[in-house]
Amino acid sequence: MTWVLIGIVVSVFCLYKVMRKNKEEREKKNWIPRGSSGWPLLGETLDFIACGYSSRPVSFMEKRAALYGKVFRTHILGKAIIVSTDPEVNKVVLQNQGNAFIPHYPKSISELLGKYSILHINGPLQKRLHALIGGFLRSPQFKAQVTRDIEESVRHVFSTWMQKQDRRIYLQEESRKIAFEVMVKTLMSVGRGEDLNLLRTEFEEYCKGLISLPVKLPGTRLYKSLKAKDRMLKVVRSIIRQRKMAALEEKQGMNGLLNDVIDVLLRDTFESSAAEEAQPRLPLDSIGENVIELMIPGEETVPTALTLAVKFLSDSPVVLARLLEENMELKRQKAKSGDEYYWTDYVSLPFTQNVISETLRMGNIVNAVWREAVKDVKIKGHLIPRGWCVLTSFSSLHMDEANYENPYEFNPCRWEKTGASVNSNTFTPFGGGQRLCPGLELSRLEIAIFLHHLVTTYRWVAEDDDITYFPFVRLKRKLPITITPLVSA
Ligand code: HEM
Repeated sequence: MTWVLIGIVVSVFCLYKVMRKNKEEREKKNWIPRGSSGWPLLGETLDFIACGYSSRPVSFMEKRAALYGKVFRTHILGKAIIVSTDPEVNKVVLQNQGNAFIPHYPKSISELLGKYSILHINGPLQKRLHALIGGFLRSPQFKAQVTRDIEESVRHVFSTWMQKQDRRIYLQEESRKIAFEVMVKTLMSVGRGEDLNLLRTEFEEYCKGLISLPVKLPGTRLYKSLKAKDRMLKVVRSIIRQRKMAALEEKQGMNGLLNDVIDVLLRDTFESSAAEEAQPRLPLDSIGENVIELMIPGEETVPTALTLAVKFLSDSPVVLARLLEENMELKRQKAKSGDEYYWTDYVSLPFTQNVISETLRMGNIVNAVWREAVKDVKIKGHLIPRGWCVLTSFSSLHMDEANYENPYEFNPCRWEKTGASVNSNTFTPFGGGQRLCPGLELSRLEIAIFLHHLVTTYRWVAEDDDITYFPFVRLKRKLPITITPLVSA
């Protein structure tokens, strides 16, 4: 009898547990944003890609947001994801880094990133690396040095244009040359020459694998990219070895001037072995890999921004005339005083800064970031279940009529009223929260310097070209332009 009673109690208890779980699951489902999973396996990927190839990539988001609301569910690129086009939801996702959300990349990208890549890691080590790199890139000493480096690179590339008989250049390619030189100088102080050429060739090979099938067998795209990374690593590790030896010989460790990111990371590891603190630090032997991986976020984005700025200006003669006026005034001042340019000169040109903001808004170079929820997260009544991905769409905010009047019009004057505040929820070209791009100020400076020297040295005529947005933003024909030197230049 006792056993029967125990059996009944256990059964009732189990039944109650199952029913409660089912109820919770049902309730949970209700909180998941509405949307469609599309076709079996394919989901809504085809429409996503088709919109990416069109002149209006945000139409994918717009259609669904109109049907289901600003936060919706879809299934793209093999994953069930929640898309947010809501500035407040985006903000919460970006700020809840590590404890609720971690970065999510396609498998091929993850395979190409080392264990300690800043793009990958989470928690205190990411915070530390981010602060170290961001602190260095924001420092006035670095900005003074990089201003000279950018000017030098721009002048060098311009000089090669003058050697061309037809004066016709592909701006997208030329911008890449400048941005790569600046990036390699910033990271490891390598100037023009054999090492730079090798790094350029191998880095291109490495990047080809970023969007590829995640198969590492010999002969596959991913395998070739990993091999290219190994060849780059040889160069970078040899630089690191030389720096270490020099530091040890001088017996002052890395207490001298910090010239580049390698110095910054090396000093940190030197200090850590001296102090033996419990703080998480980057292992010495992963510095090389980390430096190479730091090239990824900066290498493609800056040249795209430079090219788009020229494209938008070519299509807006009134804006170009105003930009020219502001920059000519600075050039005249400098010619009169005989002073060199300081980085502060470039970033204090208000209209030029507005042109840059408007380029970043319309360009949507990084149109969204992907995060994976590490636990169930509820934001503004929407549930993002553990293990699901969330895509915070920046382009939807940048191209929304509710945030920007006539969003498809290139109108730098709109920034005169608002300014390009980093804290704005509706202007996030550099992301936000703990992963806010540490290259933000460097990028704006680089674009300003390039534009200053371009508009005050040349007139140009751009050929017809279209922007495509998938898988990356770029100009279909690499933006061919024909330049003529300005008489006063
Ligand atoms: C116009 C140019 C650029 C744009 C639009 C851009 C955009 C972004 C965005 C949106 C993120 C956030 C990614 C995320 O939250 O997962 C990011 C992160 C990052 N960017 Fe940039 N970026 C630019 C240039 C650069 C440059 C020049 C550098 C390097 C010197 C750089 C280095 C980084 C790094 C290291 C991160 C990762 C930060 C972290 O995860 O802690 N970026 N960038």
